[in-house]
Amino acid sequence: MEGDFGRPERGPARDGVRPLHGQKALVTGASSGIGRAVARALAEAGADVAVNYARGETAAEAAAAEFRALGVRAVAVQADVSREDEVEAMFARTLTAFGTLDILVNNAGLQQDAPVEAMTLEQWNRVIGVNLTGQFLCARAAVREFKRRGPRPEVSRALGKIVCVSSVHEVIPWAGHVNYAASKGGVMLMMKTLAQELAGDRIRVVGVAPGAIRTPINRAAWDTPEAYASLMTLIPYKRIGEPEDIAAAVTWLASDAADYVTGTTLFVDGGMTLYPGFEAGG
Ligand code: BGC
Repeated sequence: MEGDFGRPERGPARDGVRPLHGQKALVTGASSGIGRAVARALAEAGADVAVNYARGETAAEAAAAEFRALGVRAVAVQADVSREDEVEAMFARTLTAFGTLDILVNNAGLQQDAPVEAMTLEQWNRVIGVNLTGQFLCARAAVREFKRRGPRPEVSRALGKIVCVSSVHEVIPWAGHVNYAASKGGVMLMMKTLAQELAGDRIRVVGVAPGAIRTPINRAAWDTPEAYASLMTLIPYKRIGEPEDIAAAVTWLASDAADYVTGTTLFVDGGMTLYPGFEAGG
């Protein structure tokens, strides 16, 4: 029946053990933090993984070696995702290594915080450039490859998957971080617009919004008992998130188990978006 794409009954994408077996993934910002955990989880799920890094070749190569030990292919690919020429070169290298791409995880991101009156245009442009423009450039390159290559029903029901790592700050305003919050709000509507535009091509585009996760980007918020206690006033679930919490969500969203999920953000935040100020009833 037209419009009914059938239900694969078996095969590596459905075996439940290595749900991403045979798929090719690129994770940006994958040499540390959330990106590294995501890349590892995708490799554990059976995907070949390209480990993007901007700086820190040693860490990226170490990550790739670690993933290869899991029985998949892994390569480290350098690019500053805010630069079109570097993104194009990164995709060319990834496609040379793996032949194609099935999963893009747009993860690379940074903060350059300042009160608005002190924020320089350079700080504004840098954060928008990496966090938002970088996601656009990578998404565009991935979509071109998905459409060029066509379906691979032996590995996935979708033509391709793009997971945009956002933040609770796609909806929570954040004083002192106007560049960052604006970039993440932008990621949210970029994700939804691409999902709408590409659903007919069977390309899924989804978001994952981490709350406070234990990574170097926010070390000051968790590395002393006082800071941790203060952070907990913002988290109803009363623990900090770990990179693996995000990795599990991304892996599921990239898999056929989430084949009917597109254009939405999964918040992985211990309830940070639940107005914790109202915990005691307001
Ligand atoms: C930021 C972290 C912050 C968290 C919760 C993240 O997007 O990068 O620095 O701790 O949001 O506010």
